[in-house]
Amino acid sequence: MREIVIKFSNVDKSFPSYKHPGIKTMLLRPKTLGTPRKRFIALKDISFEIYKGEMFGIVGKNGAGKSTILGLIAGVLVPDRGKIEVKGKVVPLLELGAGFHPELNSIENIMLNGVLLGASRKMMKAITQEILDFAGLNEFSNQPIRTFSTGMVARLGFSIAVHIQPEILLVDEILAVGDAEFQRRCLEKIDQLRKANTTILLVSHDTNQIEKFCDRALLLEDKSIKLIGNASEVIKAYAS
Ligand SMILES: Nc1ncnc2c1ncn2[C@@H]1O[C@H](COP(=O)(O)OP(=O)(O)O)[C@@H](O)[C@H]1O
Ligand SMILES: [Mg+2]
Repeated sequence: MREIVIKFSNVDKSFPSYKHPGIKTMLLRPKTLGTPRKRFIALKDISFEIYKGEMFGIVGKNGAGKSTILGLIAGVLVPDRGKIEVKGKVVPLLELGAGFHPELNSIENIMLNGVLLGASRKMMKAITQEILDFAGLNEFSNQPIRTFSTGMVARLGFSIAVHIQPEILLVDEILAVGDAEFQRRCLEKIDQLRKANTTILLVSHDTNQIEKFCDRALLLEDKSIKLIGNASEVIKAYAS
């Protein structure tokens, strides 16, 4: 039997709603301002399982809750209800530049980011050169990363994540950022990770990419799972 590494059981997630109270309320009923208002529901009754070594895609329109699912798996968000089980070291590639300091250079940021992701300083020292090489950032290694382009930051983030031996890798839209050459190398690296039995979750606008690389996928619609199954089936349903 295949080993389950991620399991969501009846998960709900909402966020505080930030609707502006309106000038009238602010002036005439200031005491009501601090009171909790309606919450915005992002995910409702989500249940699914992901197996070890699987490459799994998540698709859905903007705001469907794809990043929220990754955040819940990474443990940066907590569910309102339901249960989330995750087995293994999760390395998230969520927001562009998360875990970086703009004033530090890439070598310093590799150390900072690696340690934040749970790797040892010793390990990070040993793989720094490899990370820079893969990201193609050798000649910029002494510049503060605030001077980097979006693509360069994405390359650095991806390179760190794939070099610290994740058991579960979460990739949120990041493959779309780099240039074609870097995308090709990312996909090659992802292929290597898969051979090493890494579980990979891929969120991407690029349905071709999902169809080509993922075993299975799920489609989010109206805060719920509309379909889960074979990647090409799910992409077909999403496109129609
Ligand atoms: N931290 C947050 N605070 C308030 N609302 C949020 C927060 N994160 C996400 N949301 C809302 O939850 C919904 C799902 O967001 P998200 O998971 O980022 O969608 P996707 O990644 O599919 O585009 C969106 O409507 C978004 O505005
Ligand atoms: Mg998103």
